[in-house]
Amino acid sequence: MTTAMNIDMPRLEKIWLWIGGAMIVIFLAIIGYMGISMGLHPPGQMRTIAPEAVDTTAPFNTPGLVPLGNNEYRATVVSRVWTFQPNTMTIPVGATVHFEVTSPDVVHGLYIPGTNVNIMALPGRITEYSYTFKKPGEYLVLCHEYCGTGHQNMMGKVTVQ
Ligand code: CUA
Repeated sequence: MTTAMNIDMPRLEKIWLWIGGAMIVIFLAIIGYMGISMGLHPPGQMRTIAPEAVDTTAPFNTPGLVPLGNNEYRATVVSRVWTFQPNTMTIPVGATVHFEVTSPDVVHGLYIPGTNVNIMALPGRITEYSYTFKKPGEYLVLCHEYCGTGHQNMMGKVTVQ
C-alpha cells in the first residue's frame, strides 16, 4: 500500500484512502471499547453448554414449560433439525416467558412474528430472552436461520389464552 501511494496517485485519491483507513481504525476502536468496557456480548448470561451434552444435561434433557409462579414461566427449548422441543406451549394472557434456548446440532433461530422474540439458537451457547405475551391468540414459532433441507418445516406454536 505504501509503495502504491508513493507512485503518482491523484491527491484526492490519497485523501480518500486515508479517510477510509481512519474510519476502519475508529470503528474497530469503538467495537473494542464497547466489548471491553461496556460488556457488549451476545444476549443472555454467556452461559455455555457442550452441544453433545444437551440431551443429558439439565434443564435441556427435559425441555418444556415450567411455571415459576406470579404468571411467569421458564421455557427451556431445544432447537434441533428440524423441530422445537417443546413444539407447542399454552400460557395465560399476560404471562412472562423466560426463554432459554440452545441447539445440539446446527445454528437455528427462534422467531415469533408479532413479538420481540427473535432468538439465535447456537450450538454451545444458551441464549436467554424474556417476553410478556399481553395479547391472546395463537403465535407461530419459526426457525429463521437456514438449517438444512427441513428448515421450512421447523415451526411451533404458542397459544395465549
Ligand atoms: Cu432450524 Cu432453520
